[in-house]
Amino acid sequence: VREVTLGLLGCGSVGSAILELLERRRQTFADMGVRIQVAGVLVRDASRPRDVPRGTPLTDDPSFLNKCAVVIEVMGGTERPLELLRPYLCSGRPVITANKALLAECWDDLRPFALAGQLYYEASVMAGTPVIGPMSTVLRASTFQRFQAVVNGTCNFILTRMEQGLDYPEALAEAQALGYAEDPPTLDVGGFDSAHKLAVLARFCADGRFPFQAVSVQGIEHLTQPDIQAAAARGERYKLVAELMRTADGKEDSWEGWQAKVHPLSLPGDHALCSTAGSRNAMLFEGDECGPLLFAGGGAGGMVTASAVVGDLLDWLIGFPGHVPLHGPEEGLGAETNCG
Ligand code: NAP
Ligand code: HSE
Repeated sequence: VREVTLGLLGCGSVGSAILELLERRRQTFADMGVRIQVAGVLVRDASRPRDVPRGTPLTDDPSFLNKCAVVIEVMGGTERPLELLRPYLCSGRPVITANKALLAECWDDLRPFALAGQLYYEASVMAGTPVIGPMSTVLRASTFQRFQAVVNGTCNFILTRMEQGLDYPEALAEAQALGYAEDPPTLDVGGFDSAHKLAVLARFCADGRFPFQAVSVQGIEHLTQPDIQAAAARGERYKLVAELMRTADGKEDSWEGWQAKVHPLSLPGDHALCSTAGSRNAMLFEGDECGPLLFAGGGAGGMVTASAVVGDLLDWLIGFPGHVPLHGPEEGLGAETNCG
């Protein structure tokens, strides 16, 4: 049996579900001849009682990273996870992350590791609904034209609950209690989380260097109960939509021939994106050769996110590389990682 030492950064909604799923999949790992040994679980407050398997090695000391063969990062934020992961990645080891803020905002630091196949991040966009896998592999054979997507579960949940008559603050409080929202939730309702996800996806279909700053962002905070009810009376539904499309070069809001924006849209009730309610997500992807494709499924929540994280862990154990963005002829697997 091959013993694999794993480190977990974060034990909140997602981290605790990962620990539970690792237990549930114990036999799957055993069938592969693998035993996962959790070397450490980093939290801010290790003394707080938590619903985790007995013997979970909770700690506020990240030194266990030195002995890990693989690390899963689900702590959120940007500066602290980058500080912890950079030396680890420089040692050539793999990282699995659900943290789209980190990926979107620290791409200059992380891109070389993604090009080297060390970064796995299916869970970072649409949680357990696989989109990064297809976009980083088979969909590259098609000429990409555009996507429109509902990628934030918290906003979709809030808008759905407001359609049912709830006020905005109550709907947001429910989303937080269900473990969907970011800390702080401004990341969700201000549209920034959707923009992070848009930037991550754009690197597979538009340009591997796509910057987060190229996304124009508008959230849902200004939407009122009368707006939502007026849309319903017209047979429409409000959705927070992340859109990426080709545009004329030099056009305002365009980056290298691409326009990227996050904004609330009132869509006809029979639009493909309206089929998704609550915390579910959906993406309508259009490529010349593959035609229009619709991806839909769970978009937020501990266990649905853990399913993609543990899926990435299985991919790494099998020997698949991580998610490699678009790149030039001199880059790609085996790329230099600038670790000096
Ligand atoms: P969460 O419930 O707030 O949990 C964060 C965990 O990280 C907590 O255990 C916290 O410790 C720990 N942590 C945070 N900062 C830390 C620091 N500086 N040092 C040590 N530990 C620290 O967050 P979550 O909802 O699980 O989300 C985690 C990540 O997954 C985020 O990047 C999020 O964007 C992403 N994600 C979340 C979902 C979802 O539905 N929730 C879905 C997809 C992706 P304490 O417990 O001691 O506070
Ligand atoms: N806060 C995020 C959302 C979590 O609501 O979509 C999933 O990425």
